[in-house]
Amino acid sequence: MKAAGLAGVIAGDTVISTVGKEGLDLNYRGYSIRDLAAHSTFEEVAYLLIYGKLPNVEELKAYTAKLVSLRSLPDGLKVTLEQLPANAHPMDVLRTGVSALGCLETENSFEEARDHADRLVASLGSMLVYWYHFANSGKRIEVESSESSVAGHFLDLLHGEAPSEDHRRCMDVSLILYAEHEFNASTFTSRVVTSTLSDYHSAIAAGIGALRGPLHGGANEKAMELIERFTDADEAEKELRDMLERKEKIMGFGHRVYRDSDPRSDIIKEWSLKLSQNSDKAFLYPVSERIEKVMWDEKHIFPNLDFYSASAYHYCGIPTAMFTPLFVISRVTGWTAHIIEERGVGKLIRPTADYTGPSPQAYPSIETRS
Ligand code: CMC
Repeated sequence: MKAAGLAGVIAGDTVISTVGKEGLDLNYRGYSIRDLAAHSTFEEVAYLLIYGKLPNVEELKAYTAKLVSLRSLPDGLKVTLEQLPANAHPMDVLRTGVSALGCLETENSFEEARDHADRLVASLGSMLVYWYHFANSGKRIEVESSESSVAGHFLDLLHGEAPSEDHRRCMDVSLILYAEHEFNASTFTSRVVTSTLSDYHSAIAAGIGALRGPLHGGANEKAMELIERFTDADEAEKELRDMLERKEKIMGFGHRVYRDSDPRSDIIKEWSLKLSQNSDKAFLYPVSERIEKVMWDEKHIFPNLDFYSASAYHYCGIPTAMFTPLFVISRVTGWTAHIIEERGVGKLIRPTADYTGPSPQAYPSIETRS
């Protein structure tokens, strides 16, 4: 079977999540995304994905304490981050940070994967914000904070103060929504790397590379760049219609698997609305809603998770270039679950291609070549 972009191809089995299956909500290990977003914290979801079950009270307490204890950055990593310029893309910074950590704290045995995962869940935010402050103001920040959650810790380091309860929970919910999504491009990339029996950090760095593109995780950044071009909904509608006329793709819309809606979108949309009500950029919400309406009326295409994540993150005071890195901080949990699952499969992923190049031809000496 051959399919452009492997669309519709079933490339393996997984027990980790279901996406777009008839009659089934998106779920992580059997738990509906709606229940997880309403009742869980990101730490519970990270534990579910990495360790295979929802933690009980004691396990969650111990896991949260473990993550808090793993936030610091080794000196060698700080030195590396300090070499990266302010105009580097934060996704490149995280990819580099993961690579450097893989040299400093190498995975010596596959048994260690979960510990390396916890280390990344705890320290990716530290890396990102350490680099951000050093590159932009020369300040070497402390990467500890009194916030116990991954979401709160990131916001505290970024803004230098404890976040509001709404911002903390919005970020927490967003990390839950982004954590896992079956055989998407970055997860599949991590699985391909894993299938060669490569190491944990290589699989994660490769996943970051795949996530960076605007057809995948990079869409949240591009969606923000679009939304903030407008100050009112009518202006947005006019430009949207022109863009569609020019057959441009609108980032943050559409999906390879979902046909009518992305179940994650309504959840983050509610947060965007809530946060817009206390913002001096409240107009970004009606602008976004109008873009959604035009896309549906004109193309029957719906927003995916990335679209309303953009305004929600903006309302939390996050610089646009950090939107996709936040996706990484969350998705590292899903990637880890898949890396561990793929190691259990133990079969090299190596498809074949139909050859469509030139027929066999005589080898020309260099002097005779045009
Ligand atoms: N804007 C305008 N037209 C679109 C869009 C869009 N966002 N998405 C799909 N279409 C059109 C596309 O032009 C094509 O039309 P036609 O048949 O007339 O040529 C048709 O719908 C099918 O699109 P496709 O790109 O062939 O479909 P796909 O299954 O290969 O693409 C997709 C899925 C997500 C890459 C695509 O919808 C897209 O490029 N969306 C924008 C990028 C984006 O938001 N990515 C995030 C994906 S979800 C979360 C994540 O992973 O980060």
